[in-house]
Formats: sequence, structure tokens, C-alpha cells
Amino acid sequence: MPLHAGQSTQPEHRDQPHDANPFFGMANPAQGSAISTPKNALADGPVEADVAYQLIRDELLLDGSARLNLATFVTTWMEPQAGRLMADCVDKNMIDKDEYPQTAELERRCVAILADLWHAPDAGSATGCSTTGSSEACMLGGMALKRRWRARVGDDPARKPNLVMGANVQVCWEKFCRYWDVEPRVVPMDGDRFHLDAASAAAAVDEDTIGVVAILGSTFDGSYEPIAEIAAALDEVQRTRGIDVPIHVDGASGGMIAPFLDEELVWDFRLPRVASINTSGHKYGLVYPGVGWVLWRDADALPADLIFNVNYLGGQMPTFALNFSRPGSEVVAQYYTFFRLGRSGYRAVQQASRDVAMFLADEIERLGPFSLISRGDQLPVFAFTTRPDITGWDVFAVSRLLRERGWQVPAYTFPENRQDLAVLRVVCRNGFSHDLAEMFLADLKAALAELQSVTPGAPISGPSGFRH
Ligand SMILES: Cc1ncc(COP(=O)(O)O)c(C=O)c1O
Repeated sequence: MPLHAGQSTQPEHRDQPHDANPFFGMANPAQGSAISTPKNALADGPVEADVAYQLIRDELLLDGSARLNLATFVTTWMEPQAGRLMADCVDKNMIDKDEYPQTAELERRCVAILADLWHAPDAGSATGCSTTGSSEACMLGGMALKRRWRARVGDDPARKPNLVMGANVQVCWEKFCRYWDVEPRVVPMDGDRFHLDAASAAAAVDEDTIGVVAILGSTFDGSYEPIAEIAAALDEVQRTRGIDVPIHVDGASGGMIAPFLDEELVWDFRLPRVASINTSGHKYGLVYPGVGWVLWRDADALPADLIFNVNYLGGQMPTFALNFSRPGSEVVAQYYTFFRLGRSGYRAVQQASRDVAMFLADEIERLGPFSLISRGDQLPVFAFTTRPDITGWDVFAVSRLLRERGWQVPAYTFPENRQDLAVLRVVCRNGFSHDLAEMFLADLKAALAELQSVTPGAPISGPSGFRH
């Protein structure tokens, strides 16, 4: 969001200076407040490091507790050893591969590990890179699809590219379409179908479809899209209509869940139609923000003219990114986590999150006033709504009451065709233990008791500012 310098979220404090408590880091507390520095302009001179640290740290106490944030998919806990490694690498610029060849080597190993996890036909020839997150990874995946389409149809200005996706896509795909001038061909939700299905995907494609985005799993409710079915339907389109449409799998979360918990599910490079896959290392990859990954099944899937090859290392380290400089910390932390956990470690961590999600979903269903949209058995994420007979309060009111206890649980409406459906969503991540889930449940029950005690006829709601 562009920030307007004059529009503080706290207008009443905007022009007040920073003011230190005399007992904080002051050599002589009797001097009283030693500093009074402006907030919206540089002070004339420096402030003691300890005082600066203390003041800024205090201000940040007002942020919500990351561990109680059940809205985010992003990692909120890592081991102290990972934190130390990250601090060790925060001064290494990821792009300086000649100066930091070993960081580059760890990035290459991560790509190789993902190629193996996602069954690239020849892990050695899969190509990929780290990014700042899935959004950048999706932009790169989309650009490759568009480039391949352009190479196929030539420079005919009358042809306009389109990208087929469900209405449940994360906003990064709308961004991609707008930034790169591609028509978003959005398949709306329909009744109880909350994501893309094979028949609608096949019906939406034409000669100018650069690809179909299939999501593992949906940001809205954690459900997996039926990728193998979508691939089969597109095989049929190719057989009957002669149109060959590749799939990009947006595995922002599921790319790190399915390989460990759903090994039988065929969603990845085992499907020849899957050209590229992205994931967020900083979601179920279990790394602090921000790291993402994108891989192409082979060199053909990533047009060579998009790649800037760096040969500092004497090998092929393709760089294909929207940004340039960024710290090496997150990539190193990703390697640490792969190395530390191995397959069985990842499986145990992800299973624990899924167990908590399924337990909580079941318990919430049993409370009575709610019905589940999903059960947490795909991504460890579930969404629930109020039963039709609940009219005195809504999901927004529940979200507001939970917030009073510190829990951040977003309430939002579904997109096109199902805007009538308002849900709460809970994302269970590593660190949200069974104990915390029990406490959450107790607070949800207390919130319900409060809502149910309010005089009928005075509907209670709450604010909705959530964006996916
Ligand atoms: C399916 C999906 N794709 C893409 C993104 C964007 O990911 P990032 O925050 O890593 O940029 C998200 C984020 O929630 C997502 O759920």
C-alpha cells in the first residue's frame, strides 16, 4: 500500500515527539527525559543506541502477538539456531553470487530438494530460483507462460492472452494479470463449489489461454483444487480441439504439505501438463518471511530469454527475479530447515498442524451455531460460517470478540457468486499447539455465550477489513 506521509493510523499521536522515560537506558535518571525527538522528520542529532532500541521496541509492543495470529499462513516460530544463522547472513546480498558462492550453493540445493520432492522428471534439469515469496514466484511463473504463448502465436497484435483461474485465487494472480496485461478469465464459485473444477477450466480455455492456474490449496478455505482432473480435462481439450494449455500449480501452502502428508495425491510434475510450481518457503516451508520458490519442470518450460545467466560460479545459476538485492538469511534458513527436519521431520510437523486443525474443526462443528466449509484435512486450514437460523450476530462479531482476547481470526465474504457467504478462517501452523487450540476453543465458547446473551433484535456485527 502506498503510504501517505501525512496520514498516520494514529492521528492523535502523529506530531508528538518521542519522549523517553528517565529510567530507560539513561546514565542519570534524575535528569528526567533526556530526549525529545520528532517522529516525522530526522532529529538534528543521534540518540543513544540503548534508548533508541528501547523506545522502538516499546512502540512495537502494540503489534498483535504473532503466535496468536490465526489469520496468517506465514511462519511465526523458528528455532533459535535458525534465528542465529539468519542473523549471521543478514549482511549477505543474495544477488552477489560471486562474493557469497556458498549461499548460492545452498539456494541451488534447495531448488534440487524441491525438484525431487515435486517429482521433476529429471531433477537435474529442473530449473528454479528463490524469490521473496509466492507473489513474486507467481509473477515469474505467469511471465514464463505468457512468453511461451507469445512464441507460439507470434507478434499478431490482435491476439490477447488470457489466464484461466478460479475466483478463489490469491490477489497475486489479479496483480499478475493487471501488471502484465493478461485477461484474467475467472471461473466464479458455484453453489458449494468453492474452487476451480475440471469441467469449468476446460470450458474456459481457448487458443489464447497462456495457462491454467490450479491451487494447492485455496486461500479461502484450505481446500485442494483437483489438479489431476484439471490436467486430464485439458488433455481432452488438446485431443479434441488441438489446444495445448499448460498448468501452473500455485502451491503457496500445499507445495510443502502434500509431499509429506498426501504422498499418493498426484498434483505435481508427475502430471506432464504441469509446467511450473511455486511455494512459499515462509508458509508451510517453516521459514520466517520472506522466501518463496518457483520451479519449471525443465528448461523448455522457462523461455531462455527471460533468464539472466550468472556464470560467476562457472556453472549455470539462472537469475530470474523481479528484484535484485535481498538478504541471504531466508534462503539459508530454508536450507537449515530442510537439513534439520528431513522428510520424517517435516511429516511430523505438518501432521501435527493437520491434527490440530481437524480437532478444532470438529469441536467447532459440535458447538452448534456453526457449519464447516472445510475440515482442515487438506491444508491445515479451515473455514466455517454461521448456520442459517443464526440471525442475531454474525462471523464479524465473533472475530471482534476473539480479537479482544488477542486471537486474530479473519472474517470475510467469499468472492463472485457467493458474496452472500461470510466465514471465519483458522490457519493452524507449527507452534499452534493442541494446548493453544484448547484455549482458543474456550475463548470461542465464551464469545458465543456473550453473543447469545444479547437481547434479540439488536444484531451484532464487527468490522471487516480483511484482504487475501
Ligand atoms: C494460494 C496463494 N498464492 C499466493 C500467495 C501469496 O504468497 P506470498 O505471501 O508468499 O507472496 C498466497 C498467500 O497467502 C496464497 O495463499
